[in-house]
Amino acid sequence: MGSSAAVLLRSFLLLLCSLLCSLLPPSTSLGFPCSNSNSSAATCQSLAGYVSPNATTLAAVQTLFGVKHLRSILGANNLPLSTPGNHSVSAQDTIVIPFNCSCSNSTGFSYRLPVYTVQSGDILDHIAREVFSNLVVFQDIQQVNRLPNASFIEVGQNLSVPLPCSCDDVDGEEVVHYAHVVAAGSSVAAIAAEFNVSESTLMTINRIANASSLQAGQVLDVPRKACASAIRNDSLDSYLHVANGTYVFTANNCVKCTCDAANNWTLHCEPSQLKPSKWSVCPTMQCEGSNLYLSNSTSTSCNSTTCAYAGYTNQTILTKLVTDATCPVSKSFAMMDSFRAFSWNFFVILILPALSFHHIW
Ligand SMILES: *[C@@H]1O[C@H](CO)[C@@H](O)[C@H](O)[C@H]1NC(C)=O
Ligand SMILES: *[C@@H]1O[C@H](CO)[C@@H](O)[C@H](O)[C@H]1NC(C)=O
Ligand SMILES: *[C@@H]1O[C@H](CO)[C@@H](O)[C@H](O)[C@H]1NC(C)=O
Ligand SMILES: *[C@@H]1O[C@H](CO)[C@@H](O)[C@H](O)[C@H]1NC(C)=O
Ligand SMILES: *[C@@H]1O[C@H](CO)[C@@H](O)[C@H](O)[C@H]1NC(C)=O
Ligand SMILES: *[C@@H]1O[C@H](CO)[C@@H](O)[C@H](O)[C@H]1NC(C)=O
Ligand SMILES: *[C@@H]1O[C@H](CO)[C@@H](O)[C@H](O)[C@H]1NC(C)=O
Ligand SMILES: *[C@@H]1O[C@H](CO)[C@@H](O)[C@H](O)[C@H]1NC(C)=O
Ligand SMILES: *[C@@H]1O[C@H](CO)[C@@H](O)[C@H](O)[C@H]1NC(C)=O
Ligand SMILES: *[C@@H]1O[C@H](CO)[C@@H](O)[C@H](O)[C@H]1NC(C)=O
Ligand SMILES: *[C@@H]1O[C@H](CO)[C@@H](O)[C@H](O)[C@H]1NC(C)=O
Ligand SMILES: *[C@@H]1O[C@H](CO)[C@@H](O)[C@H](O)[C@H]1NC(C)=O
Repeated sequence: MGSSAAVLLRSFLLLLCSLLCSLLPPSTSLGFPCSNSNSSAATCQSLAGYVSPNATTLAAVQTLFGVKHLRSILGANNLPLSTPGNHSVSAQDTIVIPFNCSCSNSTGFSYRLPVYTVQSGDILDHIAREVFSNLVVFQDIQQVNRLPNASFIEVGQNLSVPLPCSCDDVDGEEVVHYAHVVAAGSSVAAIAAEFNVSESTLMTINRIANASSLQAGQVLDVPRKACASAIRNDSLDSYLHVANGTYVFTANNCVKCTCDAANNWTLHCEPSQLKPSKWSVCPTMQCEGSNLYLSNSTSTSCNSTTCAYAGYTNQTILTKLVTDATCPVSKSFAMMDSFRAFSWNFFVILILPALSFHHIW
């Protein structure tokens, strides 16, 4: 039965393709590669860049993507928490959408959300291209909603829109995958520079063989660097990765965590002062065996100790004392870091000969 449906689907796609293929953006498979299909790593936070076709408001974008809280959108765009829902969004502005990613069968896409209700006059391709600004292609919507006929949708019908995402680490580093729609006239180099990733990483994870084959409307998987955190694997928010330049609320709203490159790529978390969900009051956030509360730090001559966020359970908020050496005692480490800032080639070309010279000497 499944296979006859598949045969039917394929013949419809072929038929449609003969009519539309020249107009389509390069066809993508559902979602980004996501090999981490196992338990805890199978879901994570992800981001997508929505380019609004028309002037609108943050609240309307929130509704379109089914994001529960406006503050999630504010955090993903690093907008002040006081920004109102009627804040205007101009046509062609990019709004970063936060959503939960789910990996299965080696691909990642948004879990259930967003759900779009078909309006009068809609066709699937318009929904994919305009309403969701090319973040999906109509085949994705057709496949996930098991629509036998892509040209047959009914007003009022609810369609899941599978935003592409991934939960995989990249080059051994925690990242937040960001779905970026390529703008007309853009290039791999420009996108790499905009998001501070290497061109080769971008090309590898997107399986781009030739940078000049990039096309407007194509969705790229851009791995945005995430802050290191002390969040435990057994925490209810162990999935939480916070991208550079964003903030999130967690622990039933009790904690606000910010990732800022200026903070040494370490997640900075503090009590949010928001009304908690689930809990009537936020549990105490004091580090065990110390008089420090979440986000407090003390410095001795050579160490700085911070009470860091380590996750939460049904009953408590977990904390951990984290000590960083701040003195230049470990000069060798500091030097190693600055060496790393140079390219390896520089090291090989200039330093190694110098060292071997000394050695011979
Ligand atoms: C997922 O788990 C299975 C069994 O627990 C294991 O064999 C497999 O290697 C895991 N895959 C990944 C990508 O971790
Ligand atoms: C947003 O709404 C507030 C009141 O809720 C109003 O004072 C303000 O003018 C509105 N801003 C815009 C841009 O419409
Ligand atoms: C992701 O899922 C968690 C847990 O189910 C939920 O609390 C959170 O609001 C979701 N995030 C978004 C952006 O929908
Ligand atoms: C998993 O993906 C493969 C290839 O992409 C496909 O043939 C298979 O039907 C998928 N399985 C499920 C359960 O979706
Ligand atoms: C944007 O505005 C145009 C003209 O008003 C309209 O035809 C189009 O449907 C709108 N697009 C979306 C996605 O709302
Ligand atoms: C698909 O739906 C369209 C629009 O309702 C209809 O005209 C067409 O005949 C349908 N195709 C098939 C094969 O059912
Ligand atoms: C579609 O979703 C809307 C909003 O969630 C809901 O009110 C409506 O009943 C749903 N329609 C169908 C046909 O399920
Ligand atoms: C981090 O974000 C800031 C501001 O959002 C940006 O200027 C900087 O290039 C980003 N750094 C990296 C490595 O992504
Ligand atoms: C930043 O992090 C590095 C290594 O992770 C550490 O050596 C350094 O002391 C940190 N700097 C500050 C100001 O915390
Ligand atoms: C310690 O942190 C709490 C919030 O976690 C804050 O209210 C308090 O001012 C901080 N104390 C010091 C000395 O920084
Ligand atoms: C700094 O911390 C290290 C271990 O983290 C400890 O061995 C050392 O004594 C501390 N130094 C000071 C001055 O507190
Ligand atoms: C925590 O809450 C969840 C859902 O409310 C429940 O399934 C789970 O058993 C609880 N765990 C503990 C340790 O109370």
